[in-house]
Amino acid sequence: MQLSKNPYTHILKSLAESSKKLKLSNLLFDQERSKRLEFKLGGLNIDLSGQLIDDDILQNLIALANAAEVKKKISELDQGNPINFSEKCKVSHLDLRKKARFEQKSWKKINTFVKDIRQSKKFKNIVNIGIGGSYLGPLTAYTALKPFCDGPTVHFVSNLDPTSISDVLSLCEQETTLFIINSKSFTTGETLHNAELAKSWLKKKNILIKNSFVSATSSKVKALAWGIDEENVFDFDVGVGGRYSIWSPVGLPVMLAIGMQNFKSFLAGARVVDEHFLNTDIKENVPLLMGLIRVWNRNFLEHSSHGIIPYDQRLSFFPSFIQQLEMESNGKKVDVNGENLTMPASPVIWGEVGNNAQHSFFQFLHQGKETVPIDVLIALSPSGVSLDGDWEESHKRLVINAIAQVEALAHGSLNSCEPHKDFQGNRPATIISWDATDPFTVGSLIALYESITISSGFLWGINSFDQWGVELGKKLERQLLKRENLEQFSPRVAKFLNSK
Ligand code: F6P
Repeated sequence: MQLSKNPYTHILKSLAESSKKLKLSNLLFDQERSKRLEFKLGGLNIDLSGQLIDDDILQNLIALANAAEVKKKISELDQGNPINFSEKCKVSHLDLRKKARFEQKSWKKINTFVKDIRQSKKFKNIVNIGIGGSYLGPLTAYTALKPFCDGPTVHFVSNLDPTSISDVLSLCEQETTLFIINSKSFTTGETLHNAELAKSWLKKKNILIKNSFVSATSSKVKALAWGIDEENVFDFDVGVGGRYSIWSPVGLPVMLAIGMQNFKSFLAGARVVDEHFLNTDIKENVPLLMGLIRVWNRNFLEHSSHGIIPYDQRLSFFPSFIQQLEMESNGKKVDVNGENLTMPASPVIWGEVGNNAQHSFFQFLHQGKETVPIDVLIALSPSGVSLDGDWEESHKRLVINAIAQVEALAHGSLNSCEPHKDFQGNRPATIISWDATDPFTVGSLIALYESITISSGFLWGINSFDQWGVELGKKLERQLLKRENLEQFSPRVAKFLNSK
């Protein structure tokens, strides 16, 4: 059932009207309320009290989720029902965090491979060639877990722009470089084109594919046909969506960098969130409550975008990763029955690390006409800093900045005499904090956002697991490359077809 057909939607619309009287500067001093809206999940502390909701709104949001049968849909997902309706496919990324995985042949194969590569020290550089979820997931986890990286250096090539691979290969030598063709479909143009360039680069030193290429893919046959050896193809279930695939062999660059014990800790952090998500009642179910808040802010308070601000420099790619996760999952216009949505789904997801964001778009967040709800992510302790001088003070100030910003957004500072200095406040923010960034925490954080994405998708009544919207551009690219049907294209195209 799409949101507009949920029996609680009209109640929430009227509550949204009356919620205009709500003031965060009152709500946040109601300590009973705050206690009810603060949660612990694995190593994460999640504080929802900075959202413009009161008990009445929360109860009706919970009723909305019940009416949408979200818990039933979550169980169907976990049981492997084909809930990716348009592709008649199950959704199986949760299986990758279950203990049973460690008994599977595929796990033992990749486990042995990673240990051999790390022990042999044969490769100084790993080059991950992939795009979308085959790039953003591994890049985000690799960057976040820098202090845990004691293996080969990993580089990421994603874009078709040849400067991307050229800049990376200028740092590598053929004899000590291993390429990962990271592609679920093994058909993505950007990835295959870059893989050919890598092959040519190796050929300059007569290095064979078999010794320098491996692949993470769901399309084993295509990888073998390309020339990858059977032993170097690490395949995974087609039910694992690209943006949900970091846990699969798509995470191979991270496994090589941090080792399998740390990667198992990464998986364990996700499993804690999964067990909570699968087994906890709606009113205490953190990902589901955060999915409800996505819907409350997007559809009832009518805020069209949502910001993600990690106060942890090593999470610098996290906003882009979650941008793909949420917007490629929920950027849809029809419901699961193919009917047009009469209420929009996904907000625009965007963000940047703090403090940097404070010197970039926080002006908009504080004084823009539109309110942008944000999630502020805070690592309370620094990890892996090797510096002289008072770097602890720097981290203390980083945390204080994060809190100062959410307080300023909440309470504002009214100034009727100088309107340009007036801060209306009442701008919602969720605070997610944890001690020090480690594999377990990063696993929990990513799994949390996966489940927020899935919960809100169930509430919107859409299929969060396909991505047909990326196909038309690819089709036109193929036509232009072959100079087919040019009469269908705008005249402006001509000058670009002859560009050098
Ligand atoms: O953007 C479309 C998409 O299919 C993403 O969902 C996916 O993460 C990316 O392209 C790369 O796909 P593949 O892993 O199949 O190369």
